[in-house]
Amino acid sequence: MRAAVFYEFGGADVVCIEDLPTPEPGPGEALVQVKAAALNHVDLWVRRGLPKTSLPHIGGADIAGVVAALGPGVSNLRPGARVVVNPSLWCGRCEWCLRGEESLCVDYRIVGEHTQGGFAEYVVVPAANLYPLPDAVEYDAAAAAPLVFLTAWRGLITRGRLRAGEDVLVTGASGGVSTAAIQIARHAGARVFAVTTTENVERVRQLGAQFVYDRTAVDYARQVWADTAKRGVDLLFDSVGVATWKSNLRALARGGRLVVYGATTGPLAETDLRRIFWNQLEIIGTTMSSRAEFETVMELVFRGELRPVLDVVWPLERARDAHERLERGEQFGKIVLRP
Ligand SMILES: NC(=O)c1ccc[n+]([C@@H]2O[C@H](COP(=O)([O-])OP(=O)(O)OC[C@H]3O[C@@H](n4cnc5c(N)ncnc54)[C@H](OP(=O)(O)O)[C@@H]3O)[C@@H](O)[C@H]2O)c1
Ligand SMILES: [Zn+2]
Repeated sequence: MRAAVFYEFGGADVVCIEDLPTPEPGPGEALVQVKAAALNHVDLWVRRGLPKTSLPHIGGADIAGVVAALGPGVSNLRPGARVVVNPSLWCGRCEWCLRGEESLCVDYRIVGEHTQGGFAEYVVVPAANLYPLPDAVEYDAAAAAPLVFLTAWRGLITRGRLRAGEDVLVTGASGGVSTAAIQIARHAGARVFAVTTTENVERVRQLGAQFVYDRTAVDYARQVWADTAKRGVDLLFDSVGVATWKSNLRALARGGRLVVYGATTGPLAETDLRRIFWNQLEIIGTTMSSRAEFETVMELVFRGELRPVLDVVWPLERARDAHERLERGEQFGKIVLRP
């Protein structure tokens, strides 16, 4: 099978297209013929080198395709079925799995990070990770949805406890997770504020953000303050990390919640603790989602209530270009590759 593979960690130039043996599904697993697979920022972290990634490696956590073959013991699926892959891998036995909190699993892993992923003609995943894809939903859109929508759903709704009527600020608004978060926040009945760069301001507004700030032109914390009559926002949803940390703390209302799901620009941020206790702020971590959250948000995508934002759809051969585009931050939404 053709695959976008790398044999060493490094820059985008380590990614090459090669013919590799098609994997075979083991007990409880399924072989999926990949029709579309989307990039995430995690594909950049993995390619640069993460401790639990083995080489050679095929990235790609977000996959839509067709069941090609089934391993022993899988009876609830049939070859030919259209499916989308839940990118979370969990043990099913630990305290957190038994509580239905799969993303807290002691052995939590991600398809395409800890296993071989979907930037190939075929991929093997546990059959339990396959979710039926309705005929009306195109493969490109289905592949662009899972990781970003499940992350944004858990972060805003479950962990962030977002309620109708609240004000929420989304930073890095052109990013994959952020374009999902803006829609989920609107769907929840919140008023949405967003921060992005000059060329993306209009598109972020079209996604549903009522207040959009150009981070290259204004101090967004000051602007939020002005636009909320010196109150601040109830919830802040951030993965930019150290570059936005101080502004984020300034943009929060008293009693506000700062939901953190990443650290693109670096993890070591400085916090004035007086702001945390005096304003009674909450800092809330979130990662990926439970199986139930994945299913809930995918049903909203299937019904068209939430729409994956497609940046470009390219053939798998352009995997290296795709890494470069995401690395330079030129994308708006999701980059999709078709084998
Ligand atoms: N914990 C989890 O479960 C989880 C899940 C998914 C992602 N993540 C993490 O969350 C982050 C975002 O993921 P993604 O796939 O959505 O990434 P992405 O599509 O690459 O988007 C990242 C966005 O961050 C903004 N940004 C980048 N550099 C910035 C800077 N110096 N200052 C301000 N903003 C900057 C840019 O938006 P603008 O140009 O619009 O400002 C960019 O589009 C990554 O670090 C990823 O690893 C974590
Ligand atoms: Zn577990």
